[in-house]
Amino acid sequence: MDNRAVGIFDSGMGGLSVLKTAQLLLPAESFLFYGDNKNAPYGTRSPEEITRLSFDCAHELVKLGAKALVIACNTATSAAVNDIRTELKLPVVSMEPAIKPAIEHSKGGRILMMATPRTCVQSRYLRLLDRLDQAHQVVNVPAIELVEAVESGDWSRQAFDRVLQKVLGPFEGQAIESIVLGCTHFPFAREHIVRYARAHFQGEPAFYDGNLGTARQLGRVLKEQGLEAEPGRAGVTRLLTSGDSARILPLFNRLLAQYDPF
Ligand code: DGL
Repeated sequence: MDNRAVGIFDSGMGGLSVLKTAQLLLPAESFLFYGDNKNAPYGTRSPEEITRLSFDCAHELVKLGAKALVIACNTATSAAVNDIRTELKLPVVSMEPAIKPAIEHSKGGRILMMATPRTCVQSRYLRLLDRLDQAHQVVNVPAIELVEAVESGDWSRQAFDRVLQKVLGPFEGQAIESIVLGCTHFPFAREHIVRYARAHFQGEPAFYDGNLGTARQLGRVLKEQGLEAEPGRAGVTRLLTSGDSARILPLFNRLLAQYDPF
């Protein structure tokens, strides 16, 4: 048994969608969440910069005593997970765009994979796509504007509609079978994407994200390594940001309160 906290990080607010899923799935665990809001977004940066920033986040959490790490960011995972695993001596759980389940449930239609521009071109993602038979159904949709919209704190319908028109406008009138949310910021925009899809696409796309898979994997890893918290206790969560705490922490709390992964 180990009651130390699990460290979770992201470039910013997106990782809170993973944190909330993990809190609900593993209620005895404590969490330290670190959002690198000062440096977000990561998705237009070079792999070298993303790796350097990801190491800064990981070191911060290790310094605070994390027993394991979750990289709650597809972009940071694609650039840095191998180096972080090699260098740090603790279990590291990471993210990948949920194209596998989208293809498994597919009836042959078009799948939109929304992610940051960096995730869409990283070899880790391209290799995953290559291993899947039906990769030709997947259309990559880089959507950094959606990360920026979540980070801005203006979560109004009008703000999201403007961004979605730009990002999803090219698919107007098309039949879209499913949408993969390949960035942890995007589940916070899901209801807006659903509404946009109803109004502009043919049929109702199914949605996939990697959050539940990652939270389950964290549970398995903690068990295997003998790092689970004492059953029955109530875990606590501490939220940290590299940005302006007075502005950011209230936004963190709002997102955590309003987001329901199930
Ligand atoms: N939330 C991150 C992801 O899952 C990255 C967003 C960004 O900083 O560009 O990819």
